[in-house]
Amino acid sequence: MVGDYSKPIADVEVLLLEGISETAVEELRRAGFEKITRLKTALDAAELEENLQNTSFLGIRSRTKLEASIFDKFRKLTCVGCFSVGTNQVNLDAASKAGVPVFNAPFSNTRSVAELTIAEIVMLSRGIFEKSLAAHSGIWKKSAVGSHEVRGKILGIVGYGNIGSQVAVLAENLGMRVIYYDILDKLSHGNVEQIDGLTDLLVWSDFVTLHVPDTPQTRGMIGKEQISMMKPGSFLINNARGKVVDLYALAGALKSGQIGGAAIDVFPVEPGSNAEQFECQLQRINNVILTPHIAGSTNEAQSRIGVEVARKFADYKLLGSTEGAVNFPSVNLPLNKAHKRFLHVHENTPGQLKYFNDLFAVHEVNISAQQLQTFGDIGYIIADADVSDEKALKIVEELDALEGTIKIRYIN
Ligand code: NAI
Repeated sequence: MVGDYSKPIADVEVLLLEGISETAVEELRRAGFEKITRLKTALDAAELEENLQNTSFLGIRSRTKLEASIFDKFRKLTCVGCFSVGTNQVNLDAASKAGVPVFNAPFSNTRSVAELTIAEIVMLSRGIFEKSLAAHSGIWKKSAVGSHEVRGKILGIVGYGNIGSQVAVLAENLGMRVIYYDILDKLSHGNVEQIDGLTDLLVWSDFVTLHVPDTPQTRGMIGKEQISMMKPGSFLINNARGKVVDLYALAGALKSGQIGGAAIDVFPVEPGSNAEQFECQLQRINNVILTPHIAGSTNEAQSRIGVEVARKFADYKLLGSTEGAVNFPSVNLPLNKAHKRFLHVHENTPGQLKYFNDLFAVHEVNISAQQLQTFGDIGYIIADADVSDEKALKIVEELDALEGTIKIRYIN
């Protein structure tokens, strides 16, 4: 049983699916993981179950769906890493109830999205997409009509978060005037100006770019009414989430010339794989750039994602740190190498901390450092103690038997 409660990092089985970057493997090896299997594709449900028998750390991207039954069935599963921004592919509630933290990489592709957004602003402003398509089919469309520099134009950013603020920095460097609307009060960088209402932003901007999350408030936030407020001939960019824009309304405004062009990377319904057909209302409309949800997909972003999530795996294995987990109490206690560390995931019910501490008191063991956090239905304690291996194992076995314990392990 010692092995199960305190498995050396070299014996922990890691399974990485869907062609996760090699940088993840390098980072995991650096931390001490040795049993790493990296597959280039996703697995179907039966293959996944077969491969999960001995897996402790599982890395996925967006194609692998982890339903509640996976967490019920595979109790050895210790930690899940989504090597992506989104975590919708995982039943997060089931994962936390099974004591499995789920990590993701929220910042690694920020720059990639910002760069594409800037490129699209220039491309739309010059009608490049249309001219390029024409040139490909042998038509020479040399003309300056409707073609503009972006310097001095107003860029309106909706959502001044990680990506929105990066876009602002790059746009100011191009000489654009940048305004933004955010539901929160934000610290504006450079000469960027926060605007009180979405309406004012829509009325003033030559370009509107969306960088908000998918929430009940943002779904449909750019509909017919909002589009009709936009400056005639202005441009709309959505590299955020598909449900934020009403595409029927946008298609109508593009066809009538109310909107001068659009760049859309995300859609309310997207194909599940490259083998599926893609259809949307904006196809075959002039000056519309359609991209298949790739704003954040670059080699550099994938490399950074690999490192970011692999580091979180290592920190969870070696320190018990859950900082950055999307479904778990966030606990990060500095490591005292001279002491043993106990990691206890439990049901979030009254008395758990008392039961935990009483057990150490009964064994006359002094706890030298401790942190508890709760999140939803679960609580997570990290505690350090100067204790022999033999006593640590006894304590761990008794903690395991406590009512309310979900998962327990210790670090030697
Ligand atoms: P973030 O969380 O750092 O920033 C979002 C900002 O939107 C925050 O400042 C927040 O206060 C603001 N916001 C939220 N609700 C709002 C509302 N109703 N009105 C105005 N502002 C509101 O997120 P981040 O990392 O900048 O990502 C932005 C979006 O880009 C997300 O939807 C994300 O999923 C998407 N994304 C798309 C990618 C792609 O490949 N197309 C890649 C990466 C992210």
